[in-house]
Amino acid sequence: MLYPEGVLIDGMTGAVTPETGRYSKRLSGLAGIFQDSSAFERAIFDEADPLVYEVIDYRKPDSDLFFGTTTMQPGKVGVEYYMTRGHFHERRDRGEAYYTQSGVGLLLLESRAGETRSVAMCPGVCAFIPPDWAHRSINTGREKLVFAWFCATDAGHDYGQILQRGMRKLVVEQNGEVAITDNPNFRT
Ligand SMILES: [Fe+2]
Repeated sequence: MLYPEGVLIDGMTGAVTPETGRYSKRLSGLAGIFQDSSAFERAIFDEADPLVYEVIDYRKPDSDLFFGTTTMQPGKVGVEYYMTRGHFHERRDRGEAYYTQSGVGLLLLESRAGETRSVAMCPGVCAFIPPDWAHRSINTGREKLVFAWFCATDAGHDYGQILQRGMRKLVVEQNGEVAITDNPNFRT
């Protein structure tokens, strides 16, 4: 039987107490998602394979719901800001919520039919991610971006499609500003 529990989420550090699992992504684990492959190789070498993001979760066996935090470091590869891999859910009827706690970023979304949307991520904004929209978060600021997420345990992750063809839009720094541009290498 499952029992209720209060879980402490630290909105500055992303710590989850108690936590049940975590993983981290260094830049070398994100091969293929950035456009500028020489900038990518250079950043791994020059910055000693920097940490890009860390995911910490609270997940109870047999529960229908789980949640946790993602903490993204600030940084860029070429003109593109640090981003997550991006995914659809395996189950097409499962959405998610991302509640930003600190930092600033952009949540880039793409429907199965190819429509693009973005939601600004800043403290206090809870982004609704409808079922069957791919989602990728991007830290466009100079501080850590920390957000809490809440999802069905059976949603599943489908990373393959975004990894293979990319997303239709890129989030880049252009003249010192955050800009959303077309991805010239997008493959349908
Ligand atoms: Fe998700």
